[in-house]
Amino acid sequence: MKVNPLIVALDTGDKEVLQALVEHLAPVVGAFKVGFYPFLLFGWDLVNYIHSRGSRVFLDLKLHDIPNTVAIAVEVAAHRGVFMVNLHTLGGREMMERAAQVAREISPRPLLLGVTVLTSMETQDLKEVGIQGPVEHRVLSLARLAHESGLDGVVASPQEARTIKEELGKEFVIVTPGVRPPGSPLHDQKRVATPREALLAGAHYIVVGRPICQAPDPVAAAREILEDLGMRTEG
Ligand code: C5P
Repeated sequence: MKVNPLIVALDTGDKEVLQALVEHLAPVVGAFKVGFYPFLLFGWDLVNYIHSRGSRVFLDLKLHDIPNTVAIAVEVAAHRGVFMVNLHTLGGREMMERAAQVAREISPRPLLLGVTVLTSMETQDLKEVGIQGPVEHRVLSLARLAHESGLDGVVASPQEARTIKEELGKEFVIVTPGVRPPGSPLHDQKRVATPREALLAGAHYIVVGRPICQAPDPVAAAREILEDLGMRTEG
C-alpha cells in the first residue's frame, strides 16, 4: 500500500478549530504537523488527542541545543510516540549523532529530520551570521552532514529536494513544505511547488497548512490533493 504523504500543518491556537480539524482530517491524511504555536498552548494534550484519533504527529520543534539536551528532548518525544521530530543541523555532528542514537533505542522509533537552512534566509543573511557561500551549497552540505550523522532525512523546499535526492539517495526522507495545489493562493510562501511536483522532485512527504485548514471544506481540500496524487481516499 502506498504511504499517505500528506502532512497537515496545524498552525492555529484555537482549541475548537484544532479539535475539529484533527477529528475530520485524521481518517484522510498521513499525519499532522504540530509546531511551537499549538504545542506551547496545548502541549502533549494535543499530541495525545491526535494519537487518540488514530493519526500521527510530526513534532516540529526544530531542536537546537547542546547534544545532551537535544538527546533528552528526542528521548521524551520518542517515548510519547511521535512519528517525526526535527532538529537544526547547525547544532552539529555530535548533536545529531547523539539524537539518532537515542531515537534508535526506542521502539517504535521516530524519524529524525534535520532542518538545514531556514527558507526565510538568503545568502546575505547567512553571510551576516558568518556562513559563506550560496544558500544552495549550504543546504546540500548540511543535508550531507545530517545523513552522515544518522538522521533519517531533512526538511527541504521543493527546489532543494531534487538535488538532495540525487546526492543522498531515495531512502533519505525528504519532507517538503511550501506546497500549493494548482490555483491555490500562495500566502507568504515564495518558491512553491504543487503536491505532484514536490513528490516528483523527490519529496516523501508534503506539508500543507492553509490550503487545507482555511478551506471551506478541509476534508474535501485534502481529498482533492490526495486524489491528484493518485491516492485513493475513502468516503
Ligand atoms: O500554510 P502553509 O502550507 O504555508 O504551512 C506550511 C507549514 O510549514 C507552516 O507550519 C510553516 O511554518 C512550515 N514551514 C515552511 N517552510 C519551511 C519550514 C517550515 O513553510 N521552510
